[in-house]
Amino acid sequence: MAEHPSRRDVLRAGVAAGAGIILGSPAHAADGEPAAEMTLFDAVKRRRSVRRFLPDPVPEEDLKQILKAACMAPTSGNQQPWRFLVVDDPALIRALEDACVRRGMEQTRQQGTTETAHLAAAEERLRTRFSAYLSAPVYVVVLTNNGSRYPSYNEKDGSLAAGYLMLAARALGYGTVFCTDSIAEEVTREVLSIPDNMTRICITPIGMPDKWPGRPSKKPWRYFVKRNSL
Ligand SMILES: Cc1cc2nc3c(=O)[nH]c(=O)nc-3n(C[C@H](O)[C@H](O)[C@H](O)COP(=O)(O)O)c2cc1C
Repeated sequence: MAEHPSRRDVLRAGVAAGAGIILGSPAHAADGEPAAEMTLFDAVKRRRSVRRFLPDPVPEEDLKQILKAACMAPTSGNQQPWRFLVVDDPALIRALEDACVRRGMEQTRQQGTTETAHLAAAEERLRTRFSAYLSAPVYVVVLTNNGSRYPSYNEKDGSLAAGYLMLAARALGYGTVFCTDSIAEEVTREVLSIPDNMTRICITPIGMPDKWPGRPSKKPWRYFVKRNSL
């Protein structure tokens, strides 16, 4: 008797709903599933910022493929100033969540909130927010080395790599989000002992979305594009 597909299978199959899917190309998934790859344009169209995840692990082979894609991004003078810090230790992910909540509570107190009930409500809201942001099985902190050859280009280089990473993740069926302020740099610096010679570009979860968000409103491409003169 055929087994019921897991939620992960179903979500992955959702990937195949669009045109241009290559199913069964390299059989690489760690759990023996055939890979489901999207065309580049499908991945571009279907990428969404995802802020709540299922706990399903990301197979090592998928993670490797995603990180290898990030390392294919162009950089200024080919300087490749990145470090990709992979965080998959559940204790560290919980520590990040706790630190985000603590920081949020400090800010709440600084804004003058003193009443116990208000503080408790604020803490609950923060816990709900950050337990969702930090519900993925794996995070990648995209960093650049301040001592690179062309440090003034590091932010561009790092952001491009993060873009490649997010598209590669989407092509394999995973959600991501380019997090800056939502998971404060100082929190990641402290919890993950990031040294001063590294600048954080972003931190992104990688995981199966709890559900794929709808498409946020986007202006039509023609709005942005002018030909020959502005
Ligand atoms: C530079 C930059 C910073 C961002 N910072 C955050 C952030 O701190 N938290 C967050 O939830 N999303 C963040 N995002 C994601 C955006 O909110 C998201 O891309 C935007 O709402 C459009 O949604 P989409 O990615 O699904 O198209 C950031 C994106 C960029 C490019």
